[in-house]
Amino acid sequence: MRVLLVGGGGREHAIAWKLAQSPRLGKLWLTHPGNGGLAPLGDPCPPEVDLRDVFRMQRWCDRERIDLVVVGPEGPLAEGITDALATDSRLVFGPTRDAARIEADKSFAKQLMRQAAIPTAEARVFTDAASARVYLEAHDEPCVVKAAGLAAGKGVFVCETPDEALDAVERMLVRREFGEAGAIILIEEKLTGQEVSVLALVAGRSIWVLDPCQDHKPVGEGDTGPNTGGMGAYCPARVLDQPMLQTIQREIIVPAVDALRRDGIEYRGVLYAGLMITAAGPKVLEFNCRFGDPECQALMARFQGDLLEVLWATSAPGKPGRPGSLDEVGLAFDPRTACCVVMCSAGYPGHYETGKVITGIEQAEALPGPGQQVIVFHAGTTRNEAGELVTSGGRVLGVTALAEDLRAARDLANAACDRIHFDGAFHRRDIGSRALSEASRLTASTTIRAAAPISSSVVSRERPNRIDP
Ligand code: AMP
Ligand code: GLY
Repeated sequence: MRVLLVGGGGREHAIAWKLAQSPRLGKLWLTHPGNGGLAPLGDPCPPEVDLRDVFRMQRWCDRERIDLVVVGPEGPLAEGITDALATDSRLVFGPTRDAARIEADKSFAKQLMRQAAIPTAEARVFTDAASARVYLEAHDEPCVVKAAGLAAGKGVFVCETPDEALDAVERMLVRREFGEAGAIILIEEKLTGQEVSVLALVAGRSIWVLDPCQDHKPVGEGDTGPNTGGMGAYCPARVLDQPMLQTIQREIIVPAVDALRRDGIEYRGVLYAGLMITAAGPKVLEFNCRFGDPECQALMARFQGDLLEVLWATSAPGKPGRPGSLDEVGLAFDPRTACCVVMCSAGYPGHYETGKVITGIEQAEALPGPGQQVIVFHAGTTRNEAGELVTSGGRVLGVTALAEDLRAARDLANAACDRIHFDGAFHRRDIGSRALSEASRLTASTTIRAAAPISSSVVSRERPNRIDP
């Protein structure tokens, strides 16, 4: 199979690393070959393959006989890359533009959740600053102000006081700091609890809920400081026990897919539910239409089976009488725990410098003992003119360790980070701490079973995974 991978961060390196293990992979093309980890895994697309020029992309895909386009980030999905590139013979992994609205338009997502009675934070939608101010004057409890559109993870303000909320409204609706993305805002009830990411592969009516992950967004240890794109993630996240995971399937994932279908939208791709586990049960913070970053790094490290086959099956349209295709492919997870620790440039998520020489990756990957593994995924790296590997972003590397349990995986990932050097490097050493401190409360019966496909129309008839032990 000839595959085009769209995107060039740590998530895409993890996807390419797993695709490269597939016996079905013929040739892999990359839209972002500058990433030092991705570059050796594929061929660079020529400059004419510009994501903003769909017509040229179509022609190039035709000429190169691309069989499958795998889209990592949300931007191109929201712009409609799937609608533009999919043909009878070429599949695109990732939802259509209409389906991607579940991430790209938070007011659409909120309405969908209301219609489907999916538990989520109470919210009001505003387009006018005066009305938003009047609302805030009557509600002085903590709230969250969000831009409805895509704002590269920066359009969410968690506000403790009305003044903070008023300031967020000002920045979005008056000063237009987020452009069109902030022309519509949501003011939401602030939820408390632990956050968890539940990702599912959705192939129309066939749904495969993957092992849950936990991401750590604040830059500082103990979840302090400003939010980032993600400082680390681990998988499986035992915040969720098996009954709660089933509740999430039944009350959140399946109803969302069904509600889209009632609107005439068939969902294919990853559906990512960002959840808060509140005292009243799990509630949706947001939906994303793609793999999380760095959740993807932890998931791919544990993924067993042929990723290319799975992405193909997810993207293939259903046939009459055979609506689901995911129950025909093999998918399972390594029983070990994966912990991804993100090494960042000094100053991130604010201003940072690039071009710092990176050393020690080989030593880090040589560190693990028997039954363990370290994989260093590249997020913001590139080669300089001298051929040295250098930093090119705020999040530089996703140092991912596989080990028997979370503590061992975290310790191994931290030890691996200690072997890697670049000027100003820093990382959080406490990925998974909350789970580790609460681990003593969990019993053997609360472990997460490996993923199994479910059918959105027959929720109760859960089908066992063919290769699941
Ligand atoms: P989002 O992009 O909507 O997931 O928001 C980014 C982050 O803001 C989430 O990961 C949460 O930490 C926080 N957040 C979003 N919505 C809420 C909410 N309703 N209550 C509390 N925290 C929230
Ligand atoms: N890790 C959070 C995200 O990908 O949105």
